[in-house]
Amino acid sequence: MATLYSGDAYNSVFDIKAYLHEHFHNNDKYTLEIAQCQFDMIQQTLSKNNFTGPRLLEIGGGPNLGNAIQVCTQFPEIVFSDYSESCRRSVEKWVENTPDAIDWSRSIQRVCDLEGKGTTWEDRQALLRRSIKEIIHCDLLKSNPLEPKVYEPFDAIMTSYCVETASPDKDSFKESMKNIIKLLKPGGILIMVNTLNASRYLAGQAPFFSLPVDEPFIREAVVEAGCSVVSATVWRVAEDDEDADHADMEAAVTNGDGVLFLTAIKQ
Ligand SMILES: C[S@@+](CC[C@H](N)C(=O)[O-])C[C@H]1O[C@@H](n2cnc3c(N)ncnc32)[C@H](O)[C@@H]1O
Repeated sequence: MATLYSGDAYNSVFDIKAYLHEHFHNNDKYTLEIAQCQFDMIQQTLSKNNFTGPRLLEIGGGPNLGNAIQVCTQFPEIVFSDYSESCRRSVEKWVENTPDAIDWSRSIQRVCDLEGKGTTWEDRQALLRRSIKEIIHCDLLKSNPLEPKVYEPFDAIMTSYCVETASPDKDSFKESMKNIIKLLKPGGILIMVNTLNASRYLAGQAPFFSLPVDEPFIREAVVEAGCSVVSATVWRVAEDDEDADHADMEAAVTNGDGVLFLTAIKQ
């Protein structure tokens, strides 16, 4: 089996543009369905008036502003963190509006259209740029993932497709969850997205490691970290399509069989 990349490979072989295109910005059926589920989950969370922030930490955000585009309406103080310097630099370039930054305008437009509140994409873009207050290193395998920095506990934490790709085994997944939840205030909300039962995913040509985890295990890890689960929605690969993926493993961008969208409150 080909080497599966992780850790520092996110600084070298992780092809940011290919990753964003293949997993989020192409218009295939699965990508659109998953994006809709993620949009719905975040909207439902934001619609509950008790989760208004202002401070949200995005853990392992990579080069992806998709979540921040939505959550900045209620969390105008976002600390955006990731392990990889090249991913952080990609986000910094967008915030600084450099000419070579990735263009997020279509994603922003899409979110504004789905929200249906008449917000212009230009206004949301400006709000997002104002809302990202810091872009910092994080390593969720560490007891303080944001070390050497120390923060007041956050009102909310958002993390997508990160814990299962950063944690080498199930024990470390549980430890990572505990490390993350330490950064959340009691009563604060965790918004989390995980690929289910994947052992790898592709970023361009490079296969990256993923820890196969299922919904019961993730729930257990969240509860053991001190949270109670508020909602959990599973999106599943259709069975016939799953067969097709397994027949062509090298071409599929992930060999997972679904995605879990989970929210939980810290006790
Ligand atoms: C699959 S990407 C997900 C990125 C983004 N959250 C998204 O939804 O597209 C996994 C991310 O986890 C980050 N990562 C890898 N190891 C990590 C660690 N030990 N601590 C925190 N983040 C890590 C990588 O740099 C990468 O950006």
